[in-house]
Amino acid sequence: MFTLAHLSDPHLGPLPRPKFRELFSKRIMGFTNWTVRRRGRHDMACLAAITKDLLAQHTDHIACTGDLAVIGLDAEFMPARSFMETLGTPEHVSLIPGNHDAYVRSTAQHSQLHWAEWMTGDGERPKDDPFFPYIRRRGPIALVGLSSAVPTGFHSAEGRLGKTQSRALTEILDGLGKEGLFRVVMIHHPPTGTGDVFRRLTDARRIKRALLRSGAELVLHGHNHKHERATLLGRDGPVPIVGVPSASIGPSDRHPGAYNLYNIDGEPGRWSCELVSRGFGFGDREIKERNRCMLVEPAKAAA
Ligand SMILES: [Fe+2]
Ligand SMILES: [Fe+2]
Repeated sequence: MFTLAHLSDPHLGPLPRPKFRELFSKRIMGFTNWTVRRRGRHDMACLAAITKDLLAQHTDHIACTGDLAVIGLDAEFMPARSFMETLGTPEHVSLIPGNHDAYVRSTAQHSQLHWAEWMTGDGERPKDDPFFPYIRRRGPIALVGLSSAVPTGFHSAEGRLGKTQSRALTEILDGLGKEGLFRVVMIHHPPTGTGDVFRRLTDARRIKRALLRSGAELVLHGHNHKHERATLLGRDGPVPIVGVPSASIGPSDRHPGAYNLYNIDGEPGRWSCELVSRGFGFGDREIKERNRCMLVEPAKAAA
């Protein structure tokens, strides 16, 4: 059995003090929002407790689906690198960026500068090759990392996959399917929508089309800061799409901090995948198992 952990959206604090000139952008809104509303919700002591519990599970691999930063200040990226080092080595942890990691144009590439080791596929990346999609093979699974993180205008937390990534994704999923691997796709924005037009994946149809045409065994996302589950029917059967709450939100919130574990077993055409959610409860500071269910059962996968 292979166990994969998934956490997302830590929105690491404390936020470094912005330079005056850094606030002449969309950041002024994000900074105000963080100071007035969000700073109190993302609690680094809660994140430390969640991380400790996750690391105690000794999983085979960890997937992190972005939003490490808050407003994409220069000074946010190195502390976030320390957070990644706490999670584990690049061999053991895979990362993709979220919209807050590409908050403004001037630092939109900083995640690739500072966190590259956790966002690179197996083998050496040819010099001018795009970072995404990347592929990592670990035991029976293959992780495919996508980026939907693009700088956007005021009031927007939208994401975009783009034609190049979605075309590559179709080919990659086809190839990995032929290799008989359990394909896990990571993307920050939910492919199935957010209910908020300003927070959506604008070209969600592209990833849906790739999943329909080529299939996948699991899609992981963050962004909405809550537990979410949806299913798309892919070429090789149902594709579960699962979102996880922010890892740094405390128990007083309606969507307390959590992470998910996936226990993956079986073989091509007969995969099983069990989902175990661990985290805080509403008003309950104890981190424990909150849900356990089968996402994929061998009989259904084979059907
Ligand atoms: Fe987020
Ligand atoms: Fe996000």
